[in-house]
Formats: sequence, structure tokens, C-alpha cells
Amino acid sequence: MKNAKMILDKDYQISKIDKRIYGSFIEHLGRAVYTGIYEPGHPTADKLGFRHDVIDLVKKLNVPIVRYPGGNFVSGFNWEDSIGPRELRPKRLDLAWKTTETNEVGLHEFCQWAKEAGSEVMYAVNLGTRNPDAARNVVEYANHKGGTYWSDLRIKNGAKDPFNIKLWCLGNEMDGPWQMGAKTAYEYGRVANEAAKMMKWVDDSIETVACGSSSSTMKTFGEWEYTMLNECYDNVDYVSLHRYYGNPHNDTNDFLASTMDLDDFIKTVASICDTVKGKKHSKKNVNLSLDEWNVWYHSNQQDQKLYKTEPWGNALPLLEDIYNFEDALLVGLMLITMLKNADRVKIGCLAQLVNVIAPIMTSKMGGAWAQTIFYPVMQASAMGRGISLMPRITCDKFDTKHYSDVPVVDAAAVLNDDDSVTVFAVNRDLQEEVMLNLDLRAFGDMKVVSHSVMHHDDMKAINTENNPCEVVPFDVACAKDGEPIVLPAASWNVIRLAK
Ligand code: AHR
Repeated sequence: MKNAKMILDKDYQISKIDKRIYGSFIEHLGRAVYTGIYEPGHPTADKLGFRHDVIDLVKKLNVPIVRYPGGNFVSGFNWEDSIGPRELRPKRLDLAWKTTETNEVGLHEFCQWAKEAGSEVMYAVNLGTRNPDAARNVVEYANHKGGTYWSDLRIKNGAKDPFNIKLWCLGNEMDGPWQMGAKTAYEYGRVANEAAKMMKWVDDSIETVACGSSSSTMKTFGEWEYTMLNECYDNVDYVSLHRYYGNPHNDTNDFLASTMDLDDFIKTVASICDTVKGKKHSKKNVNLSLDEWNVWYHSNQQDQKLYKTEPWGNALPLLEDIYNFEDALLVGLMLITMLKNADRVKIGCLAQLVNVIAPIMTSKMGGAWAQTIFYPVMQASAMGRGISLMPRITCDKFDTKHYSDVPVVDAAAVLNDDDSVTVFAVNRDLQEEVMLNLDLRAFGDMKVVSHSVMHHDDMKAINTENNPCEVVPFDVACAKDGEPIVLPAASWNVIRLAK
């Protein structure tokens, strides 16, 4: 048994939490759209073809914003292909995922889906093969009231009211050699600046996200952010960060320490934003959009085989990672890291939402179920709204292959709107439980009113269509007044405290 101490004080606040950190992502990739959110003829499909068993699960996650339509896909995408009568929409080769895109689901349909799912749309424009002109046109199409070519075309295509998309990504992972139309930091910074400027001239209420590095492991990381921001700082509101982790060598201690890297990544990008701010004598802050994050590695080999056996297929089962219990712990740790950086991370998109590296899986004409990673996201989205508090944690530390001084307990605390406090905590120790002493200082007389735990004796346990509840959170007895809270070995904990 180990001990840990956590001090929380009402007056020590990190920031108000932007609810958009609980966002997600749907790309035209694999079965995310086709046989994921959309499957005409499915028993739960509505008249537009949207599966309501999937929408019901999305609603449980309470996803405030969904990034769309890519991803790598967007860098070769003509947005005009996705509007107008479906039978006239072109089928195109998608070079990003070596598949065929039918454009059966497009801008109008997706906006309708997002509405049904209770989400806003975060729309990415193509700055790979296309240019600022295409970008400003899609803003006019989506957001202008009427009386111009593009806005009248939207009305003709059935949407009298503008879609009012408020958040726009300026391309995707433009630093990556795998990206169609990849650019140097300077080239990208120039294009992003002109696109953002013109898009904001069309609608000055929108916000824009510039592409940061596609991972902290990129050789150009740091230099990329500095150089491109130097070109576009004044016209962008956020810089994106993308980060995926995996456990390919089955070193769980090292895997669960990966959020040390995420924390560094976030803090480094924030510092670079502030360096450019200083250099430009700007009054404006550029904040962060962690608009792709998750565990991603399980499906890699299977995908390589699929590309060989079914080139240019449609709705192929690509990136279908089956998540286990330890993945859910890492997802919980990533959420904790975002909450602890809530002063700078204003947007987060779990990548992705359905079938493709996703918390929600479907089978064709069959069921929909929640993977292990669904649960920490659901609980954080439900109870992690309010003000992020500064957690002072004292606990044992350990070293792993890639990280040193990794705290055994990582935790975030949220002062909820109803004055209750929610603590999200992971015990990284795989063998021993931790007795957590909570010191609530100025909060006065708070009691533990609920304690939910996610733990499984098998780190590799999974949920399946036939056994969807193998790894789920369960309630445990609340610690009595003055007694420490028990965090079981290898566990995700959600502890609610109230007067
Ligand atoms: O989310 C899957 C892919 O990962 C996205 O298309 C791309 O942006 C990233 O490399």
C-alpha cells in the first residue's frame, strides 16, 4: 500500500474549463461515416440514413463540437463535391487513405447529423491541394445569410438558414510528408495567414486554428510553430497539437507515463505562442487546440494488409483499434493532463468518434457498443465542467524506459457549477493501492458523495459487441469523513465531493 496527499483550495484556480475540450472528430475515413454514423436501411436509421443507436451513444458522451471532414482526407478534398443533389456528386479517389469517396454524405448532411447529436461543427478547409479562395468560398456558403452566389446556392440546396460554423481548421498536419500538398513552415504560415484573413473578412465572428506539429516527435517540432506563427499570428486564434500514444512493446509502466510527454508538448507550444506574441508586441493570446488525441497502434498491421487486398475500396474497416483496459487508463490520464492545462488548451478532439480509433464501434447492419475508452471520456465530459483547480499532489515517483520521476498518482480537480468538487485520479501503480488523503482547505466541510472506479485485473481486457460491459466503471463505498480515499492498483477514479 502507498500513500498520497492532494491539496485543493477554492482560490487556487487554473482556469475556467472550455467545454470544447470534450470535442471529437469524424473523418471521411474507413467506417466512420459509411456504416458508422450513416447506414440507410439500418433498423435504427432515420429518414436521412443516420443510425440512432450511434447518436444515442454520442449523446451519452455529450460532445460539444465535432471536427470534420478530416484529417488527412481534407488535404485532397473539394468541398464543392459534397453539396447539391447526391446523384450528381462525383466519386473521387481519396489518396490519403487509398479509398474511394462517394460524397453521399456531405456538408448539409453532416451539419444535420451534428444537430441531431447535439454538437457544433468544427470545419477543416483544404490548404493542401487547394487555396485561400476555396477556403473563403466555403465560409460564404456555410455562414453568409443570402444574396450572393455561394449563400444562394446553399439556400437552393435546401438550407435556408446559414450553418453558422464558428470554428475553422486551416488545413491538417501540413508539416507531415504524408500530407497531400505538405508545406514548409514558412509556406504554410503564409497560406494560412491569407486564408484566415479572407475567411474572417467573409465572417468576422469565426475563429481559426493553425496547424501546429502533427506530433511532438516531428523533427521540425518547435521550429515549425515559431516560423508559421510568425507569418499568421494576427489572424489565428489557436494552434493545433496532435498526439497519439501506443504500447507496441507491452511496457505498461512506460505507456502510462506517456502523459509526461503530452504535458511537455502542451507547455512548449504555449511558450512558443507567447514568444511570438512578445516578438510581435501583440496584446492577443493564441491558445491551443489538441484536435487529435488518443491511443492508436492496435490496427496498424491489419491496415497495411487491407491496403494490399482491397485498394480503392469504400468504407473499409481501417484504423479499427480495439481498446483494452490499459488504453482507458491512458485516455483518463490524457484528460487529466488537458484539465491541468485548461488555461491554454481550449479545444480537444478525441480522434476519432465512431469505428476509426474510436470510443464507439458499430457492426454493419448490427449493433453499436462502447469501447473501454468511452467511459473516462463520458465521465469527464459529464463531471469535468466548471473551473479547473490547481492540484498539489505529493506521492511516490518512479522511472520508466522513457520517463523519469513519474508520479504514481496523477489527478485533476474541478470546481463544478453547483459548488461540488470532482476529482479525476489515476493510480499508475500496477500492483499496489494508494491511500489518497485529500486536504480541502477553504472548502470547509466537504464529504465524498460518490466514488466511481474503473479497474480490471486484466490490463488487456476489452469490450465487444457480445460482451459490451466487460470493462466499465462501477461505484464503490465512499470514504468516511477524515479517512483516506482508496485508489485501487491500476485504476481510473471519479470522486465527487459536496457539502
Ligand atoms: O485520425 C487519423 C489521422 O491521424 C488523421 O487523418 C491525421 O490528421 C492524423 O495523422
